[in-house]
Amino acid sequence: MSKLDRRSFLAASAASSSLFWPLACSRASQQKLTAGRPVVISSGNGIPAVTRAMEGLNRGEDPADAVVEGVTLVEDDPNDMSVGYGGLPNEGGVVQLDASVMHGPTHKAGAVAAIENIRNPARVALKVLRHTDHVMIVGDGARRFAKAMGFKEENLLTDKAREVWLKWKRNLNPNDDWLDEDQSVDHDARQAMAESLGIAYSHGTIHCGAVDANGDVAACTTTSGLSYKIPGRVGDSPIIGAGMFVDNEVGAAGATGRGESVIQSCGAFQIVQHMAAGDEPTAACLKVLRWIADHTKRRMLLNQKGEPNFGVTLYAVRRDGLYGSASMHSGAHFTVHDGTEARSEDCAFLYEREPQDVES
Ligand code: GLY
Repeated sequence: MSKLDRRSFLAASAASSSLFWPLACSRASQQKLTAGRPVVISSGNGIPAVTRAMEGLNRGEDPADAVVEGVTLVEDDPNDMSVGYGGLPNEGGVVQLDASVMHGPTHKAGAVAAIENIRNPARVALKVLRHTDHVMIVGDGARRFAKAMGFKEENLLTDKAREVWLKWKRNLNPNDDWLDEDQSVDHDARQAMAESLGIAYSHGTIHCGAVDANGDVAACTTTSGLSYKIPGRVGDSPIIGAGMFVDNEVGAAGATGRGESVIQSCGAFQIVQHMAAGDEPTAACLKVLRWIADHTKRRMLLNQKGEPNFGVTLYAVRRDGLYGSASMHSGAHFTVHDGTEARSEDCAFLYEREPQDVES
């Protein structure tokens, strides 16, 4: 099938019927076509998370605790520069973290945004869910709330992340996010420059969604956000309905990648709504990617073919255990634990990756 044909076919099947999606997603041939519980799904960096979450579910842990403790392992890993301790900092060299969690059985949600000096924002988000009547606490209020809850304050900027940030700082233009109105930033040049200098540039994040043996659902998304962001910038991860959403009657969904696009599409909420209307998880993710592509108008966000040049990857698990994931571009992976093993699977995708496209 030619690239063009494959693209049209994917778009058509995503937009219309779920009947053909396993064919359309031939690159994702391992994606599960029959449901089973318990199951845990996560982003490509989520093998430790799905392993820990499944251990928890198997011993009867609440699914919200299971997903939060799963992502905590990745937040604690200084080598994962997309979340928690060792995450890449904002343009001022300060690590600001975002996270959210949602508990299906009670339909409660908790989130923190732009929190500093606390390495485990997902655990703090769970405290917001359980110990307040609020959904989101931000900035210094979130830090003080975490301290009141017994969390330890520490500097989250590792030497490795500081070195990477200093390298970026020495080469500021065109890597900063300050724009004149309607200025067209050469996104390709930004990416090429970052790559040629060996500068990490990340929207990296971890999402984890789980369904336990009873069909109860929970999900969590946590991130250090866009690297070198304007201080105070908040991405999709802590926004309920954008980076993560749960409906216990339907399932869970989440996102990684360019948070601005996921916020503007209410991405996770849309996926759950599509599943509620009968779409299978992968088809629901593809429909939302198509929606994002159709609503991307800024030239700086399009490649030479007029397709989005940024990465977004979406994840979904249905209450019955059926799961799936799709990415804007080919080559992305997600992780899953279906009770037998933790493994990586190919994401379905909307477009073949062009050399200039950014990974999610
Ligand atoms: N998806 C993570 C972010 O954009 O902050």
